[in-house]
Amino acid sequence: MATGCVAAGRRTSASKQLRVPEVLGNGEAAGNWAAGRCRSLPSASSSKKSGGAGRLLTGHGCLLLRYLVCHRALMMASAWERKLQRSELEKAATFVPRLLAECAPVSRVPIQNIVGVLLFADISGFTALTEKFTQRSGTARGTDELVQTLNYYLCDVLEEMLIFGGDILKFAGDAVLVLWRTRPQELAKTISLVLQCSQQIQAKYGSRDTHMGQKMRLKIGISAGPMSLLLVGDRRQKYFFICGKVLSEVCEAERLANAGEVILSASSWELCEQHRLRTQHLAGKRAVKVMGMVQMSRSECQETLRKLVQHPVSHGLEKEGAVRPAFFRSPPNVEEVPREYVPETALRKFDDRVPLDLFSELRPVTSLLVQLQVAADMDTEALHTILNNASRMMLEVLHPHQGKINKILLFDKGCMFLCVFGLSGEKLLYESIHALQSAIQIFNSCSALLGEKEAVSVAVTSGTVFCGVIGHPGRHEYTVIGQKVNLAARMMVQYPGLVSCDAVTYAASRLPPYCFKELPAREMKGISCPDTIYQYVGIARRSMFCMGLAKERSEYVPLLGREKELDLFASCLKAYKDLGRRHILAFEGTMGSGKSHLLTELAYLGQAAGHRVVAMELLEVDMRQSFSALGALTARALDLQERESCRARQRELRTKLRGTIEESSYCLLNDVLLVKFPISDKVRKMSETQRKRELRSAWAKVLKKAIGRDFGIFVIDNAQFIDPASWSIMSPVLQNISFFMVASLAPGYARTESFCKAAAANRTSQKIIYLHLDELKPSAVVQKVCQDLGVVSIPRDLARFLLQRSSGIPYYCEELLRCLRCKDTLLFRARRRGEKAEDNWESLIIETSALAATSSSSAGNDGRVCIVRPDVNLENTVLPTALKEIALAQLDQMKPLKQTVLKFAAVIGLVFTTQLLSHILPADIRHKMNFLLDMLVSDNILKWLKSTEVPEDVQDATEGPASSLQAGHGAERPSWSKKTVERRSGVLAFCVPLLREAAYELWLERQRVALHRKCAAFLERHAHKCKSCGQGDFVDFHRFAVTGTQDGGSCQGPADQGDSRSWEALVLAGEQMKRDRTHAIEEWFLAKSDQTTELPSKTDGKHDGACSCKCKAIVESVLVPLARHYMAMGDAARAFYYLVECAAAYLHVSNSYMALMKLNEAEVLRNSVEKKANVIARFDEATFFSLKGEVCCHMGRTKLAKKMIRKALCLLRRHFPRTSVRAFAKSQVEKLPCAAYVARRASSLPQEAWRKRLAWLLRQSCCLSLLERLLSLEGTSSGRTVSRLAACMKANMDKAADSYRQQIPATDRLKTEGWK
Ligand SMILES: Nc1ncnc2c1ncn2[C@@H]1O[C@H](COP(=O)(O)OP(=O)(O)OP(=O)(O)O)[C@@H](O)[C@H]1O
Ligand SMILES: [Mg+2]
Repeated sequence: MATGCVAAGRRTSASKQLRVPEVLGNGEAAGNWAAGRCRSLPSASSSKKSGGAGRLLTGHGCLLLRYLVCHRALMMASAWERKLQRSELEKAATFVPRLLAECAPVSRVPIQNIVGVLLFADISGFTALTEKFTQRSGTARGTDELVQTLNYYLCDVLEEMLIFGGDILKFAGDAVLVLWRTRPQELAKTISLVLQCSQQIQAKYGSRDTHMGQKMRLKIGISAGPMSLLLVGDRRQKYFFICGKVLSEVCEAERLANAGEVILSASSWELCEQHRLRTQHLAGKRAVKVMGMVQMSRSECQETLRKLVQHPVSHGLEKEGAVRPAFFRSPPNVEEVPREYVPETALRKFDDRVPLDLFSELRPVTSLLVQLQVAADMDTEALHTILNNASRMMLEVLHPHQGKINKILLFDKGCMFLCVFGLSGEKLLYESIHALQSAIQIFNSCSALLGEKEAVSVAVTSGTVFCGVIGHPGRHEYTVIGQKVNLAARMMVQYPGLVSCDAVTYAASRLPPYCFKELPAREMKGISCPDTIYQYVGIARRSMFCMGLAKERSEYVPLLGREKELDLFASCLKAYKDLGRRHILAFEGTMGSGKSHLLTELAYLGQAAGHRVVAMELLEVDMRQSFSALGALTARALDLQERESCRARQRELRTKLRGTIEESSYCLLNDVLLVKFPISDKVRKMSETQRKRELRSAWAKVLKKAIGRDFGIFVIDNAQFIDPASWSIMSPVLQNISFFMVASLAPGYARTESFCKAAAANRTSQKIIYLHLDELKPSAVVQKVCQDLGVVSIPRDLARFLLQRSSGIPYYCEELLRCLRCKDTLLFRARRRGEKAEDNWESLIIETSALAATSSSSAGNDGRVCIVRPDVNLENTVLPTALKEIALAQLDQMKPLKQTVLKFAAVIGLVFTTQLLSHILPADIRHKMNFLLDMLVSDNILKWLKSTEVPEDVQDATEGPASSLQAGHGAERPSWSKKTVERRSGVLAFCVPLLREAAYELWLERQRVALHRKCAAFLERHAHKCKSCGQGDFVDFHRFAVTGTQDGGSCQGPADQGDSRSWEALVLAGEQMKRDRTHAIEEWFLAKSDQTTELPSKTDGKHDGACSCKCKAIVESVLVPLARHYMAMGDAARAFYYLVECAAAYLHVSNSYMALMKLNEAEVLRNSVEKKANVIARFDEATFFSLKGEVCCHMGRTKLAKKMIRKALCLLRRHFPRTSVRAFAKSQVEKLPCAAYVARRASSLPQEAWRKRLAWLLRQSCCLSLLERLLSLEGTSSGRTVSRLAACMKANMDKAADSYRQQIPATDRLKTEGWK
């Protein structure tokens, strides 16, 4: 039975390269995602010739093959046809099994009986493989590689199943459940068909090597007979299951199978054509192992395939060659049916027209797995009721937390629900708290539903996983895959009957430890070393006695950069004390802006000034607990002690309140202070409103008593979490008593808004001052970093990195630092006073780039200094998870397509031009680019640095006045009006760098690489000097010198006229980048007159006034990004080439500091590649040393400079003698006439060769001229001798170079001269 398989067999080797789902900008993206997998299947003509592929395939198989062939044809079809067909293929139909699509008319029947054969295939060794990938490449990259490996494997296996008419019902990570629906009388034949399919799969894909040394092997179980289809869920989201004896049997059969085997269940063994099979009985089991079979003939296969149950709609459509017939000519409303079965996240992307290959991402999410154990003998209806109720309940619980049930799997031993928080478009801050709260709610509800706690297990884990599409182009699912999902699955089994969570979720929740219990370590299959596992016991009402400020003042580092706030506090306090003016000081700040730190300091200052300070901190959970804020404030004001028993609390309260309020009113405080005074008759008779009024007056009295005659200062951290019940009492009371309140508020909460409005309206008797906490100034950030690290100075690029990513928010800064330290990125060096720095490259880097925390400490040079590890490029470090969560929560508020555009822009960088963005965007999105960009600008995510509108007559004709995007979302701003239709071009920048980082890290590795390649290809056309500097390479004839080792990409000439607009945009972008680069620490430097960032440029003077040199900008917007793009692509040679170009360019614009930094980056790169592999071109290496020499020379390190230059000359095969005797001998040789010889040699060389030669000569001459200068400075006679030799050698080099230049044909000369 060799047909489809022959083709598939041929496919495997080629597939490895072919199957990269490219992020193509050529309008073929979606098609290629599928085509990548199927490309080497025989085309219609080739299959005819071989007489192969068509043989078996009629019915479903035929349809599939035709579809695959169609896919190839798609590539050749007209653009219109291609679009049409692709959009059909992209329909949500591919996300649901045929079974659901075809039973559309009866979909409202929740239980349906069907007959068929079930196949359950599972990949063994998947969890171990996940671990290996994660250990080798880290969580994100490891997951990406894992999914790619799994997807290729699954794709092959699924294709075989689809060809044999299987209907892929469910994916379960590394397993699939497949159905062959048929009539009872056809069961025997269908079992043979399924067996034939299984044997073929085992023969071809039963074992696959992975490059991790771990094999992927397949275990297959088969069962057959009648079964039930259950439909559950609510109107938003539905799920389906297969249940019955067949399901238990198929699961059992799969469990019995060893890797590479096929097991037939007992009942299918009885039903099948036994005479065909060679089997082996399993000891003590009724299931059998299939060892071989008499293959079905072609006609038998065709016949069986034809008899599989199909929806009538499909029959007429088979002829059209459609793979999913039900969706090609659907009856009315049929499309609506499967939509409910498609995950909402995927649908949202569909609806926003995001191409399918851009669905997948690497995201930090929280997974919640629930296992319900249901009795094996439960009847179908009872099972349906339980599952329906459980899924509806879960949907209800998850909804407010933006959690989604991604899939529900029913096995013989129970039912598993995979719920995910933080999927694309769903990220919320405090995700782990949302997940834990949902988990406990689900646990309790399910336990009640099943009647026993032991039957429910819930596991919660957090981490980066693959969220996206997995499977085959013809049938796939949207799901999550990763180590953390596997861990949750194992935890669910190892820790049954409770809610367990991993250490990451525990830490990320920042909930008090009493909410958790540490669980004993248990061995978990495939998980090498799991961290501590905790049981989550839920948040009982927080004890009001532990609601003081989070930290003592002594636990914080000294407060920096908050002089304005401290002054304000002091003046308010004075006004309050002297004049009795009551104030509310509200500080509003984003997460981590330093609110708690500031409030702790203010509480201390208040206390130090002799006032009674009542301070407390609220948490998010308090908002949901009535009277928690009021209770805490009262308890703290009254100084109540924590007591176990309620009676003891009551006793203490009685003592404290004696004479303050009536005995009959004590019971009003029951809910507030968690006591149980008997309800007095007076209170019992009161209405709700009266009770509230009474409580207010009682509380006012309590508070007055508590504060007494002292001035009271209330400090409430996170006042946005004051619960409504507390606020309804506190708010009116606080207006009437004398106090001074300091509160902190986070934006985005109703309470914060009400404070803000009250401050603006100034309605209350208190004066409310509402102040936004600004980000810390650069100087304070540097000081903080030095403080946190305990050093006197940090390198400038570390400062820049932290300032840019943290935007001056102290918490971000701490997280970034913590992450760098975890990865040992920072090194510390002790420096003694007066100690002379060594004369080497590292000390030069440290000295030049050190930023001292204070001028006094920098002057002293005492203590430790911090440096970045020499082999680390800070640009390549990943964002800490906590920061990623913050950024993603913001990104996820955008519609999918906007987010997609932002992701593309993120690959380019913080500043980008529309031309480059348009170049890398897929065609489907490109035509909406301007519209989307304008929306992102109005959302304050991006900002235009400059935009120009292209006149109407040059507008793209394909751009229509309306698009489906706007049609669907008419409310979106800006509207698709005539004005915005006009095409914009220009330069944009991200408003918040953190968003760019987060968006960038969502890309799958291989897609990211493809995009970097496109960016590099675009930028390379502009990688040259500006017109006024002659347009050549910054290292003379650089591109010609290294072409041999390159792919020729650098051989292009300068951009032609057509590119002038993008050149101008790049210049503009570069100017902005330069400003960004220097701005952050400019202030710092201005304060320190002894250091300057940059020297005035050579070219500045040259073109003063109307400065026409654009090289300064081009280096920032073209050369620096080029090096980054190549680095991200893993192309060390090209990255090194551009780093050398960058250094030369910076020297060209007289910025020695940046040249030094780029050379240091090059050094890091050079250290990271294997020396022997000769990755880096010799010329580049030589230039690298010669530029190092030049920089050292500029920095006054003459000795080091000479060393570098000699090394460069050595690499350029022009040894310079070390002794005077050798120098003398050499000078005699140099005096010999050789011009004629050189001229002859030059004329005999081909064009490419003499250009290369010229590059070498010019570099040698450059080195010699520098050496001559350095040697003459020595002032000794031997120095003068060797200096003369250098001059002589240089003169010879120049003469030779002239001879080569003469070879340039007159016509080319002008052009080539430009490249010098
Ligand atoms: N002005 C400052 N100088 C030095 N360190 C600071 C400053 N402000 C904040 N930090 C540090 O930054 C970290 C975060 O600050 P803090 O916890 O006060 O922020 P927050 O605004 O209260 O955060 P959240 O919104 O999570 O409550 C703390 O470790 C704190 O010590
Ligand atoms: Mg805080």
